[in-house]
Amino acid sequence: MTNAQDNSFIEPTIQFVIDRIDRQRARQADFPHITKGGKWVYTEDGVWTGGFWTGLQWLAYKETKDEKFLLEAERLTQRLLPRASDEVNHDLGFMFYPTAVVGWRLTGKDEYRAAAVRAAESLAKQFNKDAGFIPGWGFFGGQNWAGSVLIDTLMNLPLLVWAAQNGGSNELLDVVYRHTETALRNHQRKDGSVYHVYVFDEKTGAPMRGDTYQGKAPESAWSRGQGWAVAGLSMLADMTGRAEYVAAAERVAAFIESQLKDSFIPKWDYAVTGDDEPLDSSAGAISAYGLIRLAGVTKNDRYLQLARSILDALSAQCLASSEAESILAHATADLPHGLGIDESTGYGDYYFLKALLALRDATSGKSNTH
Ligand code: GLY
Repeated sequence: MTNAQDNSFIEPTIQFVIDRIDRQRARQADFPHITKGGKWVYTEDGVWTGGFWTGLQWLAYKETKDEKFLLEAERLTQRLLPRASDEVNHDLGFMFYPTAVVGWRLTGKDEYRAAAVRAAESLAKQFNKDAGFIPGWGFFGGQNWAGSVLIDTLMNLPLLVWAAQNGGSNELLDVVYRHTETALRNHQRKDGSVYHVYVFDEKTGAPMRGDTYQGKAPESAWSRGQGWAVAGLSMLADMTGRAEYVAAAERVAAFIESQLKDSFIPKWDYAVTGDDEPLDSSAGAISAYGLIRLAGVTKNDRYLQLARSILDALSAQCLASSEAESILAHATADLPHGLGIDESTGYGDYYFLKALLALRDATSGKSNTH
């Protein structure tokens, strides 16, 4: 067990991450997705993960004020902007919040604000008004996912709240409230954990069954899904002031805390126990970020301490080796489908830095890094 009060790991780990971003900056023309054998697999259009490496450039620029990061952040953000019109992608929040929204805040360029509002509108167009949710995986095509709602989508809704406050329509908020109500009523279980997927009748919205895609089983608790839930709900609670979001986030946080008794690094699913089961460091990083946001909303330091313990453990055990191209090792993207097992992921790398910065700010009395 680590000393929960010891913050001495934070600054050196932030420096490690910035150095690693700098080292990889010149080597990466396209968008890193997940690693295979320690080497990035790239995508040209950023699929759903293009916002993370781009977002790291913006964070590195904000931290260092070094123009080399700004140039790369702008180059990559420009490449993502056409995706703002993608109306079959429920992950537009992941693509546009860390990039166009942050870029607009740091540069004031209205082109970025307008693109982020357009992305929010494209996400809202995917809302099924009759059934009351945004379905997942439109971009997979082929299989009909029109009735499947992913817990991950909660993390995309802050883009809609931001857009409603920055030039977009107020109707975007109705989508946030209705989708979240559907998710809280159906995804969250009595023990506070959440289903990865919930399947509905796509015409009526009648709930049918809990399910999973990346977890061990429908009734298990896919660890990254718990992270997306606590982070998405805490951000939404912070941005909307809704008490039911705070309460739901606290229930997920209590579940996560109950699972991290012996080690602060989650295995890929909280239902697995074997020593040889792969970890998911990205679930740890995302959960830590969510817990820090929840501590900000509730003023309860218990969440900050748990986040600190997770980040301390990740810093001690999961920094990628000097030969690796990435930042955070021991992430698992999708074990059931054999993808990215004990590798690195764009989201793990991004939320690791995001959480470290938020923890530093919270422990030095500043408000959270949004
Ligand atoms: N699609 C989100 C995730 O893999 O975590």
